[in-house]
Amino acid sequence: MPWIQLRLSANEETAEKYSDWLVACGSQAVTFIDAKDTPIYEPLPGDEVLYWSNTVVMGLFDASHDMDKVISYLQGIHPDKAQMQYKLEQLEDKDWEREWMDNFHPMKFGKRLWICPSRRDVPEPEAVNVMLDPGLAFGTGTHPTTALCLTWLDSLDLQGKTVVDFGCGSGILSLAALKLGAKKVIGIDIDPQALQAGLANAKRNKVDDRLALYLPKDQPMFKADVVVANILAGPLRELAPTIIEYVGDKGLLALSGVLEEQAESLQIIYGQWCDMAPVTVQEEWVRLNGQRK
Ligand SMILES: C[S@@+](CC[C@H](N)C(=O)[O-])C[C@H]1O[C@@H](n2cnc3c(N)ncnc32)[C@H](O)[C@@H]1O
Repeated sequence: MPWIQLRLSANEETAEKYSDWLVACGSQAVTFIDAKDTPIYEPLPGDEVLYWSNTVVMGLFDASHDMDKVISYLQGIHPDKAQMQYKLEQLEDKDWEREWMDNFHPMKFGKRLWICPSRRDVPEPEAVNVMLDPGLAFGTGTHPTTALCLTWLDSLDLQGKTVVDFGCGSGILSLAALKLGAKKVIGIDIDPQALQAGLANAKRNKVDDRLALYLPKDQPMFKADVVVANILAGPLRELAPTIIEYVGDKGLLALSGVLEEQAESLQIIYGQWCDMAPVTVQEEWVRLNGQRK
């Protein structure tokens, strides 16, 4: 499969942040190199990584990804748009997914929930295990925005509940909700490839009979007990009236994909409809939680 690589010039202070940005934009893998071209592959959770003063952060995207959108998003959040140095490259075919997968290990979220890649042993067979391999859609659990939502879902009693997963990507949150006992989940994403990946992942986890996936143009109106939306702050702001329509009376809401400095304005917007709780922070990302008034 052909790939596009986006290289961003960074330093030891900005490297990690740029990596998060690339992942949030849908990068399948992130690599760091220094001037001597020594690579560090995407660090595993808990790994301590030292970056160089002249680091290049490289994000790998599937060739069909809309890179204009990625660039304009990055320029929008970069503190100094004119200073953002980047380069796009077409890469020859190579088994990048495989290379990444070899570094992907089971991860635990909260008290009961594990995300397990198929090539590894399941550490706690009696726990709630979602089987998931990295693929073309965002959502493996390694990113803090996903981790924040998984931990939240694990903390809820989802038995018999209905859930909407807005910006479902790989379906990771939908699958977690279903395995945690939800009776029905609706997943929505603008990317048709994400819906394909979500369905395949649901079949693999034998929960596809309780999951319905839609493009936004086809999404049915539905009042859910729980709504989770891990998309970026911009769409969360624009789509607030749409997202809020899915939250049933006294329903619970979690919003993720939000940087710390973006949280306050979203708290105000969603505070029109929900009682908002203090945010939960992981690295520089936050999760907002509310309950429909
Ligand atoms: C950060 S990923 C989250 C994926 C997964 N839910 C997770 O938690 O890892 C955001 C997803 O939202 C989708 N998305 C972006 N804008 C959207 C919109 N306006 N409506 C629906 N989905 C959107 C993207 O295609 C992407 O799959």
